[in-house]
Amino acid sequence: MQETHKELVLDSPTIQHRVQELAKDISSDYQDKDLLVIGVLKGAVIFMADLVRHISLPLATDFIQVSSYKGNSTSSSGKITLVSSPSHSIEDRHVLLVEDIIDTGLTMLWLAEHFSEQGAASVRICSLIDKAERREHQINIDYLGFAIPKGFLIGYGLDYDEKYRNLPDIYHLNP
Ligand code: IMP
Ligand code: MG
Repeated sequence: MQETHKELVLDSPTIQHRVQELAKDISSDYQDKDLLVIGVLKGAVIFMADLVRHISLPLATDFIQVSSYKGNSTSSSGKITLVSSPSHSIEDRHVLLVEDIIDTGLTMLWLAEHFSEQGAASVRICSLIDKAERREHQINIDYLGFAIPKGFLIGYGLDYDEKYRNLPDIYHLNP
């Protein structure tokens, strides 16, 4: 089996500290609003689990799944489909989309437009990582954890071929 090389990019304490800061911002921005936090499966699960536990507001959670990277490919496919829809009604809700990483921007652009069309009162984006190197679609990230310019990242929810999501830290794979 080929050995995997990985290089530490963000350690767990750094991630946790930033997640708490984001949760604080979100808590103050959504006071008195009907907040529905929607995570994009599967990558956002670990980030979102930490994030919502630091948001000091009543909120609802939901998850969606979209078509994403296929197999062991490290490049984005061009087309988005909703594999699994939210179980809550979106209408008149303040939707906060939670994503692990924004790469080309295609997924988030599509999702933000989709939920706006479904009648959400507002749609904002929270992403742990902004990887601008391959950005094709202009995206306004309302709550951003870290900007990491390039490379393929694993850990803290981010996978390569479904592996490494459980690592507490974030690494560059084969730098
Ligand atoms: P986008 O539509 O190109 O912005 O793709 C975003 C999705 O691609 C993310 O939700 C991830 O699932 C995946 N992705 C992009 N870059 C990486 C990476 O460096 N590591 C792991 N997954 C990635
Ligand atoms: Mg993803």
